[in-house]
Amino acid sequence: MNNKKFAVIGVSGRGSGMALELQNVEGVEVAAICDKYADRVENTQKRFQEEHGFTPDGYTDYKELLKREDICAVMVATTWITHSRIAVDCMNAGKHVAMEVGGAASADECWQLVRTSEKTGKFCMLLENCCYDRFEMALYNMSRQGLFGEIVHTQGAYQHDLRDEIALGRENRHGRLFNFMNRDGEVYPTHQLGPICKLLNINRGNRIVSLVSMSSKARGLNQWIKDNKGEDYDLADYPFTQGDVVTTMMKCAHGETILLTHECTLPRPYSRGYRIDGTKGMYTEDDNQIYIEGRSPQHEFEKVEPYIEEYEHPLWKEYYQKGVHEGGHGGMDFLVLSAFGEAALNDKKPPIDVYDAATWMAVTYLSEQSIATGSTSIPFPDFTDGLWIDREPYERGRYCLDEVCPEFYDIK
Ligand SMILES: NC(=O)c1ccc[n+]([C@@H]2O[C@H](COP(=O)([O-])OP(=O)(O)OC[C@H]3O[C@@H](n4cnc5c(N)ncnc54)[C@H](O)[C@@H]3O)[C@@H](O)[C@H]2O)c1
Repeated sequence: MNNKKFAVIGVSGRGSGMALELQNVEGVEVAAICDKYADRVENTQKRFQEEHGFTPDGYTDYKELLKREDICAVMVATTWITHSRIAVDCMNAGKHVAMEVGGAASADECWQLVRTSEKTGKFCMLLENCCYDRFEMALYNMSRQGLFGEIVHTQGAYQHDLRDEIALGRENRHGRLFNFMNRDGEVYPTHQLGPICKLLNINRGNRIVSLVSMSSKARGLNQWIKDNKGEDYDLADYPFTQGDVVTTMMKCAHGETILLTHECTLPRPYSRGYRIDGTKGMYTEDDNQIYIEGRSPQHEFEKVEPYIEEYEHPLWKEYYQKGVHEGGHGGMDFLVLSAFGEAALNDKKPPIDVYDAATWMAVTYLSEQSIATGSTSIPFPDFTDGLWIDREPYERGRYCLDEVCPEFYDIK
């Protein structure tokens, strides 16, 4: 296969690492990179030279990069409030686009993504790497094989102590701080919501109909700043708006409920708080435990690991057997980039499409609206405009997240 040219916009910590990883996908050549900070472009070029033996072209104005006709697809890894507008420009410039994860600030932002993708015929994929995590994929496989029975309730979370990254956002030129100074909502919803939505067939036979959010007080950043930067640091008593713990509940058209938690400013170990409750059993990420009626000892949890091995998703089985490149976050970054690469190289529908992206990202502005209005219930938009009850078929294949497709894997 001849290589096709890709570009990456936003090459700070995440974008730089993902650009280097994208180059490992067969058929992809990362020909151009861009960041508004020239030193980040130069640093990433240097890393490319060291790791891959060549230097992609560098830009500080992404609109200049988008004029290039030889680029077929772009990955956007900028800040939460810039992903969508850049993605829209990419599609309008005739390029498929994949965005790093984050939430949307308005309904219009989501609709623009949807309408631009429909108008241009270019896809907009969300790079939700957690959909390709080994555990998430095995749990999906278990659920598709009926182990949990009918799913009734799910839970997910982004519980990640990011106090240093957030508090030192100005020194590090990092995007998160300004969100925590000004917003209050489920600002980073997709890491666990993505796998949950695939499990519950959201946008394909099911949809989220309403949402309610509640936010705690904000104290974690002030405490961390006082302890680490001193009482005189200018943000020590800043009235941060983003609550330390934001809890969101959603209701689906077929009656399932989803509970989502965002918690990044209190001391705690990392967790995505996954939980699946069905009519025949349950899984909880707390201590990685599972209970399957008729199989587990009565009223006793079992460790989930043997189940993960037994129900290993064929993508991961093949991954282990072939001993392929593992990369960041235990391998899921490479898998999500491979899914993006395959779709863009073959002009196919991506496994996480623009309707998924709009729906998952919408949780952010909807939760902000709910919190701002005293935790009222907010109706959830249908970005498919009614088609969720009868969509065009999804693309079956190795990276499919709507079904497990065993015939696509080369497994002994
Ligand atoms: N999927 C994951 O596991 C994962 C992990 C980390 C970060 N992320 C996501 O990746 C994104 C980037 O994260 P980060 O930590 O590198 O953030 P960051 O704030 O450090 O970097 C964003 C970069 O985008 C650049 N940028 C912003 N607007 C631009 C524009 N108009 N043109 C060119 N460049 C522009 C900034 O200069 C900056 O270098 C975020 O959305 C974050 O949520 C995802």
